[in-house]
This record gives sequence, C-alpha cells and structure tokens, in this order.
Amino acid sequence: MSLTTVADWERWNERVTGRCVGETEMAEFRRRVPLAPGARVLDIGCGNGSWTHELARLGMKVTGYDWAPRTIDRAKATPTLYERPAFAVWSSGHDVPADITPRSVDLITFRDSLASMDWRDLLPRLGPLLTPGGQVYVLTEVSVPGVNVHRPFPALSNDELFEMRRGWGHAETWPAGVRTGIVLSGYGM
Ligand SMILES: C[S@@+](CC[C@H](N)C(=O)[O-])C[C@H]1O[C@@H](n2cnc3c(N)ncnc32)[C@H](O)[C@@H]1O
Repeated sequence: MSLTTVADWERWNERVTGRCVGETEMAEFRRRVPLAPGARVLDIGCGNGSWTHELARLGMKVTGYDWAPRTIDRAKATPTLYERPAFAVWSSGHDVPADITPRSVDLITFRDSLASMDWRDLLPRLGPLLTPGGQVYVLTEVSVPGVNVHRPFPALSNDELFEMRRGWGHAETWPAGVRTGIVLSGYGM
C-alpha cells in the first residue's frame, strides 16, 4: 500500500487504530523534552491522535493537526479520562494556521509523520513559532541505501537527518528501536 495522498492516509488510519506509545519511547522522549504541564504543543501529522492524547495526559496544551479530515474526526471522538486535546485539519504545505503566533510554541512533534512532508520547506516556517528554548521532536523510520526492509511508513535517510540539523543551534539523535529520535532546538542560532 503506498502512502502518498490524503485518501491513502485516510484508508490507513481507518485500519490502523489503536497505535500505542511504549514506555521506553515515552521515557526517551521525557528525558530530552522535560516540559512542564501547560506547555503549548503542536503535534503535526497526528493521525488518530494516540501520541496527541499522551501529550495531553502529561498536562500539555496540545493541538493535533492532520491533513486527513475523517482521521481528525476520529481523533476528536476518541474517549479520554484526561484533558481533551484540540484537533484540526491542516496540511503542512499550507500557511501556518493564523492563530499560532511567533515565539508562542514550546514544542512541535512529528511522530512517524515528518518523512511524509516537505520538511525542507516546513521546518524553517515552523522554527520562528518556537519560544526561546522551544524544541522540535521527530520520531522517524530511517532508510539505509541497499537495505530493502519493508517499512509501513515513508522514511528519511541518514543524510537527510544530518541535513535537517542545519539552522538549529542544538540537535540530538538517538536510536529508538527500528526508528530514530531527534530533538532540535535553538532555531536560527
Ligand atoms: C504514520 S501516521 C502517524 C500518526 C501519529 N503521529 C501516530 O504516531 O500515531 C502519519 C500521519 O501524517 C499525516 N500526514 C501525511 N502527510 C501530511 C501533510 N502533508 N500534512 C499533514 N498531515 C500529513 C497522515 O495523514 C497520517 O495521519
């Protein structure tokens, strides 16, 4: 199944509900992103919202964005015992939503989603939205040339991960099972 268009992702998200967040993944995230409750967070490519709900459970004021409208409806309808995240339809190729002002966002997350987007165009548009000390968190599959592993999602290459650091004052990467984690901060420094 190719995952390129909105319709492809709607079909995928309908079938793959219940994607969960493991304890190790969360611990690795918390170690590098020690945000306090109340932090303002954007979760881009949120899909059915499992990661978005985890962030809300930590007390963060989070909005999940996805370009797939039926997926966003499903995320909005997910029951929760914690504070309900906001969700909205937004495609990463469009202008940043007008209600997000410069230097107002503490964290932007991309969990298994950045490789599907034009990140070279997107990250420089998002960087100015971050507060001083604000961070970008990426969890992604990584493809290795010549190694043909079946991957469910689009992947980035190690060269792309290296290139992505450009323009950021600090970058940290770590292995996360079959994926790689990255935290970027200090945009434009
Ligand atoms: C693999 S899913 C990840 C969902 C969620 N982050 C998670 O970890 O469960 C990738 C999501 O990115 C969304 N997506 C892909 N390209 C996008 C774009 N250009 N703008 C907004 N969302 C996009 C897809 O619709 C899909 O829901």
